[in-house]
Amino acid sequence: MKTEIFRIDSADDGRIAEVSDILRGGGLAAIPTETVYGLAGNALRGETAMKIFKAKGRPSDNPLIVHISSFEQWAPLVSELPEKAVRLAKAFWPGPLTIILPKSEIVPDEVSGKLPTVAVRMPSNEIARAIIEKAGIPLAAPSANLSGKPSPTSAKHVIDDLDGKIDAIVDSGYCSVGVESTVITLATNPPRLLRPGGVTPEMLESVLGEIEIDDAVFNKLAEGEAAASPGMKYKHYSPDARVTLLKGELDSFIRYAEKNKTDKTVVLCFDGEEESFSVKALTYGKEDDPESQAKHIFDALRKVDEMEADTVFVRFPKCQGMGLAVFNRLIRAAGFNVVDLQAEEKFKVIGLTGKTGAGKSTVSKHLKEKGCFIIDGDKIARDILMPGEPAVKELSDFFGEDIVLPDGNIDRKKVAERAFSSKKNTDALNRITHPHITNQFIADIAKAKKEGCHAAVIDAAALLESDCKNLCDRIVVVHAPEEIRLQRILARDGISREDALRRIKAQRSDDYYFSQADLVIDNFEPYALTEQIGKIEKLLSESL
Ligand code: TXA
Ligand code: MG
Repeated sequence: MKTEIFRIDSADDGRIAEVSDILRGGGLAAIPTETVYGLAGNALRGETAMKIFKAKGRPSDNPLIVHISSFEQWAPLVSELPEKAVRLAKAFWPGPLTIILPKSEIVPDEVSGKLPTVAVRMPSNEIARAIIEKAGIPLAAPSANLSGKPSPTSAKHVIDDLDGKIDAIVDSGYCSVGVESTVITLATNPPRLLRPGGVTPEMLESVLGEIEIDDAVFNKLAEGEAAASPGMKYKHYSPDARVTLLKGELDSFIRYAEKNKTDKTVVLCFDGEEESFSVKALTYGKEDDPESQAKHIFDALRKVDEMEADTVFVRFPKCQGMGLAVFNRLIRAAGFNVVDLQAEEKFKVIGLTGKTGAGKSTVSKHLKEKGCFIIDGDKIARDILMPGEPAVKELSDFFGEDIVLPDGNIDRKKVAERAFSSKKNTDALNRITHPHITNQFIADIAKAKKEGCHAAVIDAAALLESDCKNLCDRIVVVHAPEEIRLQRILARDGISREDALRRIKAQRSDDYYFSQADLVIDNFEPYALTEQIGKIEKLLSESL
């Protein structure tokens, strides 16, 4: 379909009648509003609503907002019009506020997403109101973007998403607010804010008294949890890149971005900060001016896609007033991916290693009690070879299918025999297994951060021989003299003295370990272990 573009700059433009005719005739037109561009169609016809869902690629259980141009159009859409609602509308209409009330019969189920309520708003954009008035019907209009993409704040954004899919696009420049309207439901008591926008919670409370803020404004809905506002459950506003919100001061932000950047990293920062980075930076408004952030945020999120960014780091907005709306959009764009820079800078990865019998496990047990997240290298090395794991297939491709037992387990003895028969084979074993182990370490480190631990400890005997040591900020070697280690192994493993000695002799020299250690823990009498653990804690508290 050919999409006709109308450039309209004033509410008395004669072409407004042409757009209204398209809408009255059941067509779809993207129209400007003060918040974002809306994809409008007749709100009283179910089949028009279905066309809107189709053009946007939007799930049809996500209801549409009905736009009106006069107060008279409101009453027929709702089954009751409480005094509170009227007060609210008088205070903020026309303007960026959507009010939800129980719906009347004339609102089709397709528009309300089968809910018993309807969302209504009167935009302050005069061209929008003129179009509605001329059409003589209320207009259902979701944001005129493809579902999941950032909302459009210019006609170019709409053209990028919907050209060829709808009848018309009215271009009247940039939207003045820049984020979608505030959505409040009066179908609950007290009234509940479902989506923050240009009308802030403080402004709403000044008219309504106490209101509730829906949990989905701040948090991700749990799997299967019903959304008060269906739109909250969908992935939203998101560029193709992985977006991370970084909470903290600018200097920490710069350090993090430099450390974690890729070749295709883009930073979204505040005005005046763009020179601070070695990577590309876009600004999305002034740090202390949430209105300016709201105006630019969607455009900035779209630009990072045009720049083909794979990683985007975003400065964290202040959440007061209009800032709450900016935060709410950004946290969704980031898929709730937030890094607390203060905690991040304190966080350390400790590599804990040492010879057999030195007592690494005892030390890691104590560190666990001190709140460290323990990553058990031996266990991970076993887990990556469990039946069905990709490393099993890779090993059998190299060492022969007969290293896999009928039950899917690996024949460890056979693998050891073959792997240690030549240097080439030993290298192959390491080349195959190490990346799987490293990936699991990385995943566990991320988990440790997520759980709020101040440190992760990788407990691994062969740490110094592998690339995994690069994951560690500090290396701690646990040490005990050979005779003591021998006694411990004999008591622990129930093997012969000869076997124990063979194991001990197979390991590298003490000097090899000491030369790579940031700290050596003496784990034997007369050294008190608690004092030794204290040394690790001191290491953890030092800045990197
Ligand atoms: O500023 C805006 O509101 C823009 C412009 C075009 O007016 N429109 C807009 O519409 O943002 P849309 O469809 O993208 O977002 C409407 C939101 C969705 O999250 C939807 O789930 C929610 O409002 N909503 C609509 N009707 C609802 C209802 N009856 N109950 C709960 N939530 C509702
Ligand atoms: Mg939308």
